[in-house]
Amino acid sequence: MKTTHKIIYEDSRKMNDLQDKSIDLMITSPPYPMIEMWDKMFSEQNQTIKNAIKKENGNLAFELMHKELDKVWKEIYRVLKIGGIACINIGDATRKINGEFKLYSNHSRILSYCISLGFSALPTILWRKQTNAPNKFMGSGMLPVGAYVTLEHEYILILRKGNKKEFKTEEDKEKRQQSAFFWEERNVWFSDIWDNLKGIGQKLNYINLRERSGAFPFELAYRLINMFSVQGDIVLDPFLGTGTTTLACLCSKRSSIGYEIEQNFKDIINVRIKEMISCSKQYNLDRLNRHLIFVKEIEEKRGQPLPYTCKPYGFKVMTKQEQNLILYHIDNIKEKDDSFEAYHEETKYNPMGSHVKEDLTHYS
Ligand SMILES: C[S@@+](CC[C@H](N)C(=O)[O-])C[C@H]1O[C@@H](n2cnc3c(N)ncnc32)[C@H](O)[C@@H]1O
Repeated sequence: MKTTHKIIYEDSRKMNDLQDKSIDLMITSPPYPMIEMWDKMFSEQNQTIKNAIKKENGNLAFELMHKELDKVWKEIYRVLKIGGIACINIGDATRKINGEFKLYSNHSRILSYCISLGFSALPTILWRKQTNAPNKFMGSGMLPVGAYVTLEHEYILILRKGNKKEFKTEEDKEKRQQSAFFWEERNVWFSDIWDNLKGIGQKLNYINLRERSGAFPFELAYRLINMFSVQGDIVLDPFLGTGTTTLACLCSKRSSIGYEIEQNFKDIINVRIKEMISCSKQYNLDRLNRHLIFVKEIEEKRGQPLPYTCKPYGFKVMTKQEQNLILYHIDNIKEKDDSFEAYHEETKYNPMGSHVKEDLTHYS
């Protein structure tokens, strides 16, 4: 089975290549307003932003930066199908301007604009990103009252266009069943606090690159894609950066479209896509392996086997809904202009194989 992955090196404030109601899911992380590393990019998109920063008018700069992002959210609302979900990873900013230190609440500004467009807000995820940096506390130190709370989290806003997606045909129902996730994954993925997201898919995370480009971890995109779309769906990222959303789509048998204004990212995106051929199978095997460790532990604790069997794999699962779950890895990727065709193969699992590790206990 084939998926396609298109990358458009253009400005996503106008996505003329995309038709209305053509996208199943949108996942993104925009440049964060009022975080200094993005000042230049915002100023290039609107000259008055540069002037507002120069004049140290923080409120105006904040609003003008969001006005540029608003154009993208409006486009997202247009291109999403009814029932389609938008996931926006965003952090708030703290900044001292004109002698005044304060919070610029990016998440609430985006949330209220998206609601004004017609989106329904769904419960939000807090992504905890704890830092051990010695200088993480700001302000007056141990003396009241001028010390500031450190921001150690970001948000993942979750919004829906219209009512819940429906699965009417037999084919759609079957695809949904195959796209199920494990019960124990559900318990972690659908909790409203996600911790550091280290440890899983470390190889795919490129820590240095993430710090320089504002990339989110592979696991963040992977979870959201598997939570809010089914195999074969089309996922859009209007601020693609280093291509993490594309990689997670490749690994999840979803098609993808990414917009990125910086042509310079092309080489790194292409390298990362090709690397997925060797990573995706192991990623799936690790996921299956974690499940078997979970089954072993819970059966020992309960003193009886789990009630259901996952038919494609023959191992036990907790619920009926997991019985048809199948994972696919990438067999081959072919490049065509700025797009890629990926060919997927069912990931087979041999519990006696060399890929079985004992130390993967993230879900226990
Ligand atoms: C926070 S980064 C995204 C990082 C990405 N999630 C990843 O994992 O690499 C935001 C990206 O949006 C791009 N960008 C900013 N404004 C844009 C626009 N109007 N159209 C397309 N891309 C834009 C920037 O060049 C930057 O790469």
